[in-house]
Amino acid sequence: MKTTCLFKAITLALLLLTTSVTQAAADKMLRISTDNTDLILHVVSNSRIYQTYFGERLTDPSALSYGSNHREAYQGAGYDDYFEPALGIIHNDGTRCTILTYVSHEQKVIPGGTETIVHLKDEVYPVEVILHYQAYTKENVIKTWSEIVHHEKKPVTLFQFASAMLYFDSNRYFLTQYNGDWGTEGLTNTQELFFGKKIIDSKLGSRSAMYVSPYFELGIGTPVSENEGEMLLGTLGWTGNFRFTFEVDNEGVLRLVPGINPFTSDYELRPGEVFTTPDFIFTRSAQGEGQASRQIHRWARRWQVMDGEGDRFTLLNNWENTYFSFNEPILSNCMHEAKKLGVDLFLLDDGWFGNKHPRNNDHAGLGDWQAMQSKLPHGVPGLVDSARAAGVKFGIWIEPEMVNPKSELYEQHPEWVIQLPNRKTYYYRNQLVLDLCNPQVQDFVFSVPDHLLRENPDIQFFKWDCNSMITNAYSPYLKEKQGNLYIDFTRGLYSVLRRLHDAHPQTHMMLCSGGGGRCDYEALKYFTEFWPSDNTDPVERIYMQWAYSHCFPAKVLCAHVTNWNSQTSVKFRVDVASMCKLGFDISLKRMSEQDQLFCREAIYNFNRLKPLILDGDQYRLVSPLQTDHMAVMYVGNPSPTPTANQDREPSAVVFAYNLSPRYGEAIQPVRLQGLNPLSRYLVREINLMPNQQSRLSCHDKVYSGDHLMKVGLPILSTRRFTSTVLQLTTID
Ligand code: DGJ
Repeated sequence: MKTTCLFKAITLALLLLTTSVTQAAADKMLRISTDNTDLILHVVSNSRIYQTYFGERLTDPSALSYGSNHREAYQGAGYDDYFEPALGIIHNDGTRCTILTYVSHEQKVIPGGTETIVHLKDEVYPVEVILHYQAYTKENVIKTWSEIVHHEKKPVTLFQFASAMLYFDSNRYFLTQYNGDWGTEGLTNTQELFFGKKIIDSKLGSRSAMYVSPYFELGIGTPVSENEGEMLLGTLGWTGNFRFTFEVDNEGVLRLVPGINPFTSDYELRPGEVFTTPDFIFTRSAQGEGQASRQIHRWARRWQVMDGEGDRFTLLNNWENTYFSFNEPILSNCMHEAKKLGVDLFLLDDGWFGNKHPRNNDHAGLGDWQAMQSKLPHGVPGLVDSARAAGVKFGIWIEPEMVNPKSELYEQHPEWVIQLPNRKTYYYRNQLVLDLCNPQVQDFVFSVPDHLLRENPDIQFFKWDCNSMITNAYSPYLKEKQGNLYIDFTRGLYSVLRRLHDAHPQTHMMLCSGGGGRCDYEALKYFTEFWPSDNTDPVERIYMQWAYSHCFPAKVLCAHVTNWNSQTSVKFRVDVASMCKLGFDISLKRMSEQDQLFCREAIYNFNRLKPLILDGDQYRLVSPLQTDHMAVMYVGNPSPTPTANQDREPSAVVFAYNLSPRYGEAIQPVRLQGLNPLSRYLVREINLMPNQQSRLSCHDKVYSGDHLMKVGLPILSTRRFTSTVLQLTTID
């Protein structure tokens, strides 16, 4: 009896103790949540703040307590940690150690979710860091960044400045990266991570993503797959040198340190100046990368991309048609072709400017943004008038951050150019990069599109190109502070883009960098879309669009129909481009009447289906990396009930392609996704050549969503380079 009482008393005491410990910890437990994810931080007895959980949302996080693993939320260098830190500072006295302790935190409601703000400080040096975590509840995306400030007497030098840190606990980790080169963007490579470091980084400055894109996928436990498994999709919003460090430690814990690349960037930070890191944006999924992509797509359209929920223009570009050889009659003809095709806008590319040094090739003229009199006697206003007369909108190419040494700009302002004072200059594409660290240069770069728009308010679109990385790395403006070059250049670019956006908020802009050399979510605050690659071979584009779709919605991926790969039909090329933001860069003279008719019909269909393709949920159905085919579909929100005499809007569209199938290959039906199993859908093949009948057995038949998703549709074949587009309309 006595024993029982004693036992009860001990149990009660333990319970009280546990409760009070949990309570104490809970006082300083920070919970960053979305609908499916929890990231939990704890402040512990040493006043430092640690990650205690990151994974599927918990029903009861109060049971969490701080373990022995050192997973500091924002690790400073030089004290009690032996792996990659987030923050490194050389203080005024020459010491290189920074340890951050918790001061306070707050959590507030923001549109779409919550923001958690954590204030930290060093107890020995006057250094403060603020961590920001914005959690977008429905989209399951978390955006995180840091602010670093100090009040030492003289400037300090930052040698590490990560945006954030995250830790993962698993037996195995698999990293998928997206690398390439000019014309081979979006190559996909997966590797297992073991003890030690794997770094994905860029040192190219302006054309930062030319060799590797600033996003990755991490398979936790197993390699990432489309519809299964725990994984993270992460990306950095930074149009400059970036670095993702993945380090597996002695205990098998993986730490991820994303941020600006500190490569040759020991950053001098003045007292009181705030160093704001770029955003690290991530989404996790327990159902594979398909769900993660849909989450980030929805977030991007809703919260990040310029006019993310607005419309996009279909267009005809003249680059591959004319290159530099054009004049007013040729361009006027292109504008009439644009009208005949049925696209919204004509886009004039490179070669329209320069008089003393005319831009008739890529050796001269960059920097002199006055219309070339010999080609365009009526200037840009004359072109805007011609476009109006032809009945299309007008857009124009610029590359305002760059200069050819053969230009009046270079003759007048050699000090505006990033260039070494004491070495032979190295040229990439015969051009140099302007020194955007310099506010006068920022004013000049801003003035290029601003003047064009003030003179021609009818310009609706810019293609903003960037064909050189930062070479000859020396900023005449920064003088002895060269460590700030790569970072201040990128910030200078943002300052120009912000100004431009504020002055002309309606103008759509395509971000281009000799192909996909720039593709990140910070730039996309100012650009409605980007150019994924100069390689427009539709077969190659299938792989590239597949790769980019992991991080970016179809709406921001420009896809143009050109003459690349003459083995493929115009239908195949148009069907491939119709999966993203459709455009053309081709002369109608090189197309048969049949093909032209087909294009007009396909553009009409694209416009009809834009709400699905550009704004719907994308499902990747058949991978070109695993098969000789590819299929994707886009599903929209249920259409409103049509009124009498009104056709129902389609609720899904499917694109399927046969690449290089093998003879006698057993072809599998394509199982659809994202439909309502209880609804019935009318399946109709569209984008057929004029007078062609569908050969598909499923054409114009009705199926349940259940059937379409479990049994699938026989839409693939062994006919090389062929394609099928289906629209699905819910009938009940
Ligand atoms: C590179 C771009 O990627 C091309 O589309 C074209 O605009 C050229 N620059 C023009 O120089």
